[in-house]
Amino acid sequence: MRRLFNTLFYKQQQRTRLQLFSFNYTPTMAAPYHTKIVPVNPLHFQFEQTTHGDDFAEQNAKPVIADPKDQTAIEEAAQLLTAGDAVGIPTETVYGLAANALSADAVAKIFAAKNRPQDNPLIVHVSSLAMLKRILPNNTIPPVYQQVIKHHWPGPLTIIVPTSDLIPTQITCGQPTVAVRFPSHPVARALINQCDFPLAAPSANSSGKPSTTLASHVFDDLKGRIPLILDGGPCNVGVESTVLDGLRNPPAILRPGGVTYESLSSLPGMEGLQVYRKDFIDRALEQAPTTPGMKYRHYSPEAKVILLENAADPHTFERQWKQELEKQEKPVRRLGLLVTSKDTPSVVNHQGVECIPVFMGRGEHPEEVARGVFKGLRDLDTQNVDLIFVQGIPETAEGMAVMNRLRKAASKVIEL
Ligand code: TXA
Ligand code: MG
Repeated sequence: MRRLFNTLFYKQQQRTRLQLFSFNYTPTMAAPYHTKIVPVNPLHFQFEQTTHGDDFAEQNAKPVIADPKDQTAIEEAAQLLTAGDAVGIPTETVYGLAANALSADAVAKIFAAKNRPQDNPLIVHVSSLAMLKRILPNNTIPPVYQQVIKHHWPGPLTIIVPTSDLIPTQITCGQPTVAVRFPSHPVARALINQCDFPLAAPSANSSGKPSTTLASHVFDDLKGRIPLILDGGPCNVGVESTVLDGLRNPPAILRPGGVTYESLSSLPGMEGLQVYRKDFIDRALEQAPTTPGMKYRHYSPEAKVILLENAADPHTFERQWKQELEKQEKPVRRLGLLVTSKDTPSVVNHQGVECIPVFMGRGEHPEEVARGVFKGLRDLDTQNVDLIFVQGIPETAEGMAVMNRLRKAASKVIEL
């Protein structure tokens, strides 16, 4: 196995070098595929700890797949990935569009299928600490991440580490660092383990659209552009991973996500933890698109989105959207209401405007809203609404990630 891994590394290095010499490299659009959706049941996967008593026994656990059908699905996906294709996969955060992270050609297919800007770097996904070490300079994990990894890996947390020659520049977009995550989703974890090479994977939406939390979302955006989507059911977290840069002093959350500020800030190594845009702004970061969602339009449905902050009370929300609706210059026939309180009427008609409420989850339970936010935006798009009003939630726990995504999706934010 080790030898196979090294061979792949070597081949990759050769290819990356060739790529650097090729002038003005642009990936060609993927040939049209018949996109197959294969179900996999995450409950059929178990992870057996082999290093008992070890601090990192959890991270070193090995997958055991109970059902041969799931094993076959994993093998089919691994074969495509080994051959250099891009595959839609479930993770605990959102569905990812995965490809071999050590192959510049495979990574190019991700950019082409998603229509992703070439200067937006990707996250590399590993399934063991040994795999992480193999891609790091001197095989060394920066000590600042010791406790963070112990507490939050596998899970919805991405760490920024120094990059190495093994990682194609297409992934890092020329940065000296690379973003790495160890997903906890059994299917993603078992698949990376089966491949025995790390997978680069952005969210599996077409660039600019809301992220994908169901296999059907991936199909809607990428059908005909990829050969396979593994359907592992709905994503449990619903928003992307937290991007943590521990190489900065003090450390900083570049993108809030599934792992909360509250659960990171008290860990050794995270003293003085800051949140980008809340606590500081860095000019260099603003120019390079390494602060997710800063440079490009993100998470946007077709309809215009207006976010009403501090509108947790349903009456305040209703009063406010009605006022805002009157100010709209373009005619609104169908109005989407993305709500976080249950006592909103199911279908209403307001002065001839058809109102379509979609419930994201209870505002007092931000983890519910996180699970429902992207699906809510997508559902309203399929209902062909002209305008969406969103009922914001407090920025505590997962609420920070939710509000971060909603602010980027919105063309107007109203603070009440
Ligand atoms: O939960 C997730 O993280 C999902 C699933 C599929 O794992 N992936 C995901 O990938 O959200 P993506 O490409 O949508 O977002 C990755 C973000 C990029 O927007 C980029 O700004 C940031 O990670 N990133 C990547 N490399 C970086 C680096 N070297 N320094 C700082 N930020 C980086
Ligand atoms: Mg994304």
